[in-house]
Order: sequence, then C-alpha cells, then structure tokens
Amino acid sequence: MKKLKINNTELAYRDEGSGQPIVFLHAFPLNQTMWNDQVAAFSSSHRVITFDWRGFGASSLGSEPSSLASFADDLAGLLDHLQIKSAAICGLSMGGYAAFGFYRKYPDKVAALVLCDTRASADTEEGKQSRHEMASLARQQGTPPIIEAMIPRLLGETTLRTKPQTAERVKEMIRAAQPEGIAQALFGMAQRDDSTELLSKITCPTLIIVGDEDKLTPPSDAEKMHLSIAFSQLRVINHAGHLANLEEPSVFNQTVRDFLKQLS
Ligand code: MLT
Repeated sequence: MKKLKINNTELAYRDEGSGQPIVFLHAFPLNQTMWNDQVAAFSSSHRVITFDWRGFGASSLGSEPSSLASFADDLAGLLDHLQIKSAAICGLSMGGYAAFGFYRKYPDKVAALVLCDTRASADTEEGKQSRHEMASLARQQGTPPIIEAMIPRLLGETTLRTKPQTAERVKEMIRAAQPEGIAQALFGMAQRDDSTELLSKITCPTLIIVGDEDKLTPPSDAEKMHLSIAFSQLRVINHAGHLANLEEPSVFNQTVRDFLKQLS
C-alpha cells in the first residue's frame, strides 16, 4: 500500500499492473480492500488503481470535513500524481455518488463509467435524518452499531444465508473505518447533489451493474439510470445484494471485462 499527501489528507492507494487505467471507488463504510478480487483479476491486463477515501481504511481524515466534492478532488489529485489523464471509473454505491461528482467536475478525465449498486437521486429528508442519527451513533459508540445496522442492508439474502466468510470480511472493513470518517461521509452523502439531471449529459460509454437482491439501491434505481444515460448498458447480477463485486466476484469481473473489451 502506498501513501500520498493530497489536499491536506494522506491517502492510501494501490497502483498495480499496466495498460488501460481503471479506478475502483469503494462503498460506505468499507475501504479499498473490497476490490481485492478485482485488483487480482484486472491487474494482469489493466492498470488498476484503488484507494481509501479520507477517514476510511488506511487514509487519514482531512483537515476539512469530507464531502462528495472533496472526494472528487482527492481522486483528481491522485490521478494527476499518477500522471493518468483519463481512466475508466468504477464506483459502487457511495463510490458511484463520487463518480457522478467526479464526472460533473472533471468529465475529460473519465474514459468510461461503471456504476454499480448506486443511484443518481439525492437523499430524501427522511434519508438525511437517518444519516444524521447514524453519524451520532458512530461518534458516540464507534463501529459496532454501524456493523449491526449495515450488514443486513449491504449483503443480499443469498450471501447472508450461505457466505458467512463474506459477511466477516465486510465486518472487518467496517471495523477498520474511523468513526469520525464514517460520520463525515454520512454528512457528505446527505448533502450530495442530485445527479438525475447529469444523467442525460453523460456521453462516455457506461455500464450499470446491480445485484438482484440489492435492498439499498434496487434494480429499479439502476433501470432509471439506464433509461437516462444514452450509451449505457445494464447488467443484473443474480444472487447478489448491494456489494455485487464481493458477493459474486466471478460474474462481476466477467461483466466488467466484457465491457472494457468493447472500449479497446
Ligand atoms: C454505500 O454502500 O456506499 C452506502 O450504503 C450508500 C448509501 O448509504 O447511500
């Protein structure tokens, strides 16, 4: 794992392989290790970049509170440092929200988008309220209540029933997050822009992936994005919940690989 100071934050990142660059943006409240299967699968053919958002995994908190805008600037800073002019950007859930923010500000740096288990709409008032409550819980009690709340939402029924090792891996990632990083990301997500209007302006090749058992951002959200993004493809992964890349890594990787092949 390498470290780099960007925008007054120390970011932990990986840069493996060579070829067409692809950046994987992790979900809340996990870290870049959620992409281990993808780093292993793609680094023989691509330059693969993963990193921990500020406040997660091995990255420090920033001097300013986290926001989706700061996430986009951190990603831009990392790409500049790595001298990558443009890359395929693959974001899952919060990573997808960040991908929208990045596309809005830095469209020339996006060669293609892979939007996984995410949505374009902003939070409802009720959704914002529940993020604020979760942020208070994280600040007061640390990660245990976050693990308890998030595991049943993040994982699909099939995974919860049949893959205890996947649930354990996800718990481990949440344990590694800083409670203040969790709180700041929750406030950042609550304040994020609505990206619905952006969808019709996306002109790069786009792949939308969703697990059929995703309860947080269900297939209906993916279908809405697919209808509004001109050059988009939609793939539904069976027996996967919100963390499709972790729950069904082989199918996920093949889906992304087929898409990337069309770009080269
Ligand atoms: C995520 O998986 O990144 C989060 O669950 C997204 C969200 O809470 O909206």
